[in-house]
Amino acid sequence: ESPKHNTEEKLQKVCALLDQEISHFNWTGFYFKNGDKNELKLGPYVGAETDHTIIPYGKGICGQVAVSNETFIVPDVHLQDNYLSCSIDTKAEIVVPIFKNGENVGQIDIDSHTIDPFTKEDLELLEWLCNEVSKIL
Ligand code: SME
Repeated sequence: ESPKHNTEEKLQKVCALLDQEISHFNWTGFYFKNGDKNELKLGPYVGAETDHTIIPYGKGICGQVAVSNETFIVPDVHLQDNYLSCSIDTKAEIVVPIFKNGENVGQIDIDSHTIDPFTKEDLELLEWLCNEVSKIL
């Protein structure tokens, strides 16, 4: 479901904060299930503009997380065959699902310009964050 207006503002601030505070986060954004369609729609983000405003379930890292319901860490995007490139600068990506009432309703997506940059702390932070975000959807 698309987040409410007030929620979008909050999510925009979350993106800005993560982008500002964590130097290896170089594109930070949210995708949400687009109504009852089997596709993701781009929500608030900070970083370069992307062509991937709609992503069908199953396509790319984001689309795979929409169906697997599991966090996907990609240390090196060049080694992935089911990957949607947003920027030639992107070297790594992490996508963490957001659950509302047990349903996978969206995700946070982070791209990095560094190979294999994501730490256990990043993962824990993002999983905590997705749980918090779920409460305001
Ligand atoms: N790389 C993603 C597409 C979204 S962009 O990173 C913003 C993917 O493979 O699903």
